[in-house]
Amino acid sequence: MFKRFEFDSLIVGGGGAGLRTAMQLSQAGQNVAVMSKVFPTRSHTVAAQGGIAAALANVSEDKWLWHMFDTIKGSDYLGDQDAIEYMCKHAADAIYELEHIGMPFDRNDDGRIYQRPFGGMTKNFGEASISRTCAVADRTGHAMLHTLYQKNVELKTQFFIEWICLDLIRDIDGDVLGVIALELKTGDVAIFHAKNTVLATGGAGRIFQASTNAYINTGDGLGMAARANIPLEDMEFWQFHPTGILNAGVLITEGVRGEGGYLINSNGERFMEKYAPKAKDLASRDVVSRAIATEVKEGRGIGPNKDGVYLTLSHLGEALINEKLPGIRETSIKFANVDPVIDPIPVVPTVHYMMGGIPTNLNGQVRDSIKNNVITGLYAVGECACVSVHGANRLGSNSLLDLIVFGRAAGLNILEKTSKNKIKKLPDNVGQETLQRLEKLESNQNGETARALGNELRNAMQEHCGVFRFPELLEAGYKKILTIEKRADSLSIQDNSKIFNTARVEALELQNLVHVAVATITAAMTRKESRGAHARADFPNRDDESWLKHSLYNPSERNISYRPVNLKPLTVASFPLKERVY
Ligand code: FUM
Repeated sequence: MFKRFEFDSLIVGGGGAGLRTAMQLSQAGQNVAVMSKVFPTRSHTVAAQGGIAAALANVSEDKWLWHMFDTIKGSDYLGDQDAIEYMCKHAADAIYELEHIGMPFDRNDDGRIYQRPFGGMTKNFGEASISRTCAVADRTGHAMLHTLYQKNVELKTQFFIEWICLDLIRDIDGDVLGVIALELKTGDVAIFHAKNTVLATGGAGRIFQASTNAYINTGDGLGMAARANIPLEDMEFWQFHPTGILNAGVLITEGVRGEGGYLINSNGERFMEKYAPKAKDLASRDVVSRAIATEVKEGRGIGPNKDGVYLTLSHLGEALINEKLPGIRETSIKFANVDPVIDPIPVVPTVHYMMGGIPTNLNGQVRDSIKNNVITGLYAVGECACVSVHGANRLGSNSLLDLIVFGRAAGLNILEKTSKNKIKKLPDNVGQETLQRLEKLESNQNGETARALGNELRNAMQEHCGVFRFPELLEAGYKKILTIEKRADSLSIQDNSKIFNTARVEALELQNLVHVAVATITAAMTRKESRGAHARADFPNRDDESWLKHSLYNPSERNISYRPVNLKPLTVASFPLKERVY
């Protein structure tokens, strides 16, 4: 009944993390498939602008230990120190590897890779900002994604393009043996059977109405994990990027502030001086986003509704803007009707990144429970994973780094652990639940459309789970989201045709978004402190005594359990908890 495919390794997602993992495996001679909902070079990594962090010391002295400290501090001490050490220590090699496979980094006059300052990146444990973020103008993700795609083409990685993966296949031992997937072109459902499955499905920022994320970022990997009863970690922590274009949501890179741009309110004041006296506009994103929200709340917002602030960069001059920030000039002209060479850009904090995700260890192996046991055959890498390098707040330019460092780590572990294993037999009833889910969607005549219900979901998350979180709003939002969850169980699609049926895809994506939203709002209600991006009006302080722990949302019990934060690095001394000021 099903078409069947068999591979050594199956990578679900064609963005940076998936392609870096695939590269490792194809290089070693594995039979590897990458499955992608869109053409791989349209994956959301393409939208990453400002850069990728690594202590290369190309501009001034730098050390991976300083980068490690900044990342721990940026995470508001929720990041696991072993994972952070691993990432920062491997960063330089990861960049040189990208350079050697053809990534066209910008250059300094001496020919070395160009680096710019980014929020929260400092020298000597917080002394002053440092240029650590390696960049290709403001199109770094674009350059990285194309480089990795081309390398995989060279290595003969097989691509299944415009397929959406629907469910994980788990056997009676709980091992993962592949996925059930639907081909958009034909509407056919097929079994992809593999020794290893790597989830690299990216973020889920489309649970919010105002988001820098692509429309494809619907948390498909998280939905698959939740349906297979795999916990989701630290889902209360969502990053609002300080500078999304007001009323459009499109990203304006932090690289603008790295190059010397700054924020002003309606009085023309550089208000960040008040909130972060030392780092100012280059404080971490949670701090800058809260500062903007406070300026707006206190009546110093700009525009007809006084609901944003200005990002000004005209003083940088046309030549620098054209050389280092050409993409944001174009974007500002198109989406804000503003040429930043002349006028400031109206911006507002906009949802950008999911710090939480599918729990993994340093090798990308998915962890099933607080006991740290791993699920055989299942890996997760990139934004959909929570190896916990970002904790409660990610530093800008650490996400591209996360993708390639842990994509490689997962590939290495697969090769070491399983390349000689035989493939396990599929369960007898494989795919039946998925087929029932599809049939229900098709046979239901009277349900709501995914478009209408999805808009309700996005508006509810925006209203109830924003930059600042209020107890009554969270409670009311939780009830709304649970109602939406029930209604999502009986969606209708008006058109049951098979070929490129985008209505069906949108409904399947909404089912994934609902899992993510329920996990998010449940975890946000439960964590009674403020830490990183989770700012509760009723619990304004960080509470290390009660809350220095990771949350795990358990999909079948619908409750939260906890896992301790790992404060022990791999080789260096632990960084002690401190008050976080910039
Ligand atoms: O602002 C930016 O360029 C975004 C970078 C990031 O999220 O790492």
